[in-house]
Amino acid sequence: MRVLAHGGVGSPREMDENVKKTVEKGIVDKSNALEVVIGVVKELEDDPVFNAGTGSRIRLDGSVQMDAAVMFSGEIGAVSAIEKVRNPVKIAKEIYDSPFVMLTGVDSTNFARDLGYKEHDPVTEKRMEEFKEMKEKLEETGGSERLKRIREFYDQVDGGDTVGCVAEVDGEYAAAVSTGGTSYCMRGRVGDSPLVGCGFYAGKRGAVVTTGKGEEIIKRMSAKRCYDLLLEHDIKDACEMVVEEYPEEISIGVIAVSDDGIASADNRDMSQYKI
Ligand code: GLY
Repeated sequence: MRVLAHGGVGSPREMDENVKKTVEKGIVDKSNALEVVIGVVKELEDDPVFNAGTGSRIRLDGSVQMDAAVMFSGEIGAVSAIEKVRNPVKIAKEIYDSPFVMLTGVDSTNFARDLGYKEHDPVTEKRMEEFKEMKEKLEETGGSERLKRIREFYDQVDGGDTVGCVAEVDGEYAAAVSTGGTSYCMRGRVGDSPLVGCGFYAGKRGAVVTTGKGEEIIKRMSAKRCYDLLLEHDIKDACEMVVEEYPEEISIGVIAVSDDGIASADNRDMSQYKI
C-alpha cells in the first residue's frame, strides 16, 4: 500500500502532523485503494483545521457549500454544493455506487438525507470570524459595485485549501478530494474539486489530486494533465511540470502516485504525509 495525502496548498508544514494522524486513522481496516482514499479524506474532513467538511469556509451569503469526489477503476462519484452533511466524501461514494457521476446543490443534500445522513453544521468559530471580516469589507456595496469588489478580493485569493488523497493498493489506484471552496466565494460557485481531470484523476497507471484556486485549475485541467505527463516522465518531474504551468502569484499543489513512485509538487507550503 502507498498513500499520499495533503491538507491543501497554503496549509503550513506544521500541519503535517494533522495529516499524518488522518492517514494513520483513515487506512485502518481498509482493503482497497478506494476505501483508503475515502477513509483518509473522511478524517481530513473531520479535522476542523482543514477547509473541508467541518471547518469549511463560509460563502458570501453565509452558507457553507462543499464539493467532493472519488475516482477508482474508471468510475467516478462527485458531489457539488452540498450542504449540512458531515462528510461530503461519503456522499460522493454513494453517487459512485449509483448510476450517476455527479449530483449538485439541494438535490445532493436531499439525496444524502434519503440515505439517512443526518444534518450537520460544519461551521467553526474560526470560520465565523473570517466570514464576519469578509462581510464588513463588502457591507457598503451592492449590485454591480459589490460584484466589482468581490472580483477585486477574489483576485487576491491564494489557494483553495482542498484536501485530497491518492493511493495505490495491489496495483490499483484511487483519488479522493473534498473542499469548502475558496474565500469570497459566491453561493453556487463550483471549483475544480468535483470536476474529473481538474481536481482529481485516477486511471490504470496512477492517481492525481490537485489543490489551489479552482478557476485556474479548471482552465488547465491539471489533474489529467499530470496523469498524462506521468505516463511519459518521472513522477516527480510530472508534478513539477504541472506546477510550472502556473504563474508564481497563483498557488498550486499536486500529489500523485503511479507505478513509478509517489510524489508531490507545490509553489507554496502544502501540509502532507505519505506512507
Ligand atoms: N480547489 C478548491 C476550490 O477552488 O474550490
